[in-house]
Amino acid sequence: MINIKSNNNFRPPWIIGHRGYPAKYPENTLAAFEAAVEAGADMIELDVTLSRDRKVVVIHDATLDRTTNGKGTVADFTLAELKQLDAGSWFGAQFTDQQIPELSEVLDLVNGRAYVNIEIKSNAYELFHPPDAIEKQVVDLLRQKNLLATSMISSFDVNILEQIAFMKNFPATAFISKKPANKNTVNMCTRLMVFSWHPDRRIVTRSQVKQMHAAGIKVFPYNVDVLADFAGMRDMQVDGIITNDPVQAGVWAYNQKAA
Ligand code: G3P
Ligand code: CA
Repeated sequence: MINIKSNNNFRPPWIIGHRGYPAKYPENTLAAFEAAVEAGADMIELDVTLSRDRKVVVIHDATLDRTTNGKGTVADFTLAELKQLDAGSWFGAQFTDQQIPELSEVLDLVNGRAYVNIEIKSNAYELFHPPDAIEKQVVDLLRQKNLLATSMISSFDVNILEQIAFMKNFPATAFISKKPANKNTVNMCTRLMVFSWHPDRRIVTRSQVKQMHAAGIKVFPYNVDVLADFAGMRDMQVDGIITNDPVQAGVWAYNQKAA
């Protein structure tokens, strides 16, 4: 695959499967990622945090209650304990075999068939930056697997993006935001050399897309799940969309490109 940062060889929008393909599969599971890749998503998005024994695990919430049969805080359990949990039945009886994946398992599954957008959750940020801080573990893993060029790291947390910007040869990064961008946001993104801005689709405007583009930053809004929003984002000339249904979005994108 071509380096994310230099891939201009496509017509937007990129289709990014948010937590895999959660419209049809339990979010952040291997089943969801495999389905998104098979559906032709350009990129998958996933959420990572740390287990009690400091392993990088893939789960959105800080607690287990919503998406597993466990209860309590993810960070209070070891990887071995987390692996005992069922992360699929809450979504459908056919998914009882799904577990909370480690990040390395997802990277091995995707195996270069799509770009990977790894969102580091703010709850995993550690002020004193230990040698095995989550952002260091993620970048080291990408380096070991030779996936620095085809992965990106996103976060709502500027501290995490800042730590990554201090590293040598860091991957593409993205700032996620629920708030409209202003001049300070653009300046911060430029200072941290982020590749893209990932706003909640409800706060995107054409003028903000223009501001980001003027600074050389791509725009990938998230939760673009209905045709009207897709059309709105396309009209604002965003570069990609993060969606809960990559199949449906793929059809819209295909129709747009065919038109
Ligand atoms: O990538 C953007 C999006 O994933 C951020 O929101 O809460 O779904 O992780 P959330
Ligand atoms: Ca996310």
